[in-house]
Amino acid sequence: MNRLVGLVDKLRRERILQPGEFIELLNNPDEQSRKYLFAQAVEVRRQIYGDEVYIRGLIEFTNYCRNNCYYCGIRRDNSSLQRYRLTPEEITTCCDQGYALGIRSFVLQGGEDAANNDAYMVEIIRAIKSRFPDCAVTLSIGERSRDSYQTLFAAGADRYLLRHETANEAHYVSLHPSTMSWAHRRRCIEQLKEIGYQVGCGFMVGSPGQTWQHLADDLLYIRNLEPHMVGIGPFIPQHDTPFAHYPAGSVELTLILLAVIRLLLPDVLLPATTALGTLCANGRERGLLAGANVVMPNISPAYARENYLLYDNKLNSGSEAVEGYYELLRSIEGIGYHAVSARGDCKRL
Ligand code: 5AD
Repeated sequence: MNRLVGLVDKLRRERILQPGEFIELLNNPDEQSRKYLFAQAVEVRRQIYGDEVYIRGLIEFTNYCRNNCYYCGIRRDNSSLQRYRLTPEEITTCCDQGYALGIRSFVLQGGEDAANNDAYMVEIIRAIKSRFPDCAVTLSIGERSRDSYQTLFAAGADRYLLRHETANEAHYVSLHPSTMSWAHRRRCIEQLKEIGYQVGCGFMVGSPGQTWQHLADDLLYIRNLEPHMVGIGPFIPQHDTPFAHYPAGSVELTLILLAVIRLLLPDVLLPATTALGTLCANGRERGLLAGANVVMPNISPAYARENYLLYDNKLNSGSEAVEGYYELLRSIEGIGYHAVSARGDCKRL
């Protein structure tokens, strides 16, 4: 039998592989093994989530950021960016529009903006939860103190996304300035879990300096952490960052990693990300066909979308945006899935 097909079977059965086995599977698998991997991922996903795809309304509410990550377009030192911050009223208007479309899960994503103090975030969380008690609120606002995470959880936030970025410390150091710490980021993720959030981690595929071993480390980290959500997408260079001249990550490898993560954590919530859709015309659909089960259309106002430029050519219109919502639903139906109007919680027992 094809050795890699055997590894896929082992991964499905045991939900883990040795680091060397992960690397074998990721590194340019033959057509037969790739197809087999995707088929297994889709089947595992179907057993738990049927043909349902969950929708998250993404609100990019501020692009101010105190951090200076070498890869990110909204880094502090990027002065060619128009900075903006939505008002609480603008944020609730986004939610109104999303709710009318059937969206029951909102993600508040922003840079690490000093204006996002606890009192302000509590006000926004309370406003959304009191207006839409049937909706989930997810925060994606970076590293904070344990007390702050606790306060925002008590105010009603349900979920928190904080990508670990890389499970390898030396690699983390090469992607971030020395003001940021790999250990601190991991501690934040641990604390979020302890507090009771549904937690999401994740990483970029093909970030500068990433090796096969780093990816194996990421997979083992994810397996041990058992997050409810995992966000991965290809690295895409942004022209005003120190990493402007590095090549983008591979769509193919991203798809393989989505499938592997589905087999590692069968019930995980796995988005087909905007970065994947940006690099490849039908990237989102291919993500869903590799085991993803979540899409996150952007429901921010157009002026915000135009300036939340994490990377070059970031999609911000069509089915990526609120105006293209019905197009998004059609594209999901078109590949045999069904977008549901629900909070879309993780079906972990
Ligand atoms: N390419 C792809 N993803 C990026 N992110 C930031 N910059 C880029 C880029 N240039 C991702 C990071 C971050 C998330 C919000 O976006 O992983 O955690």
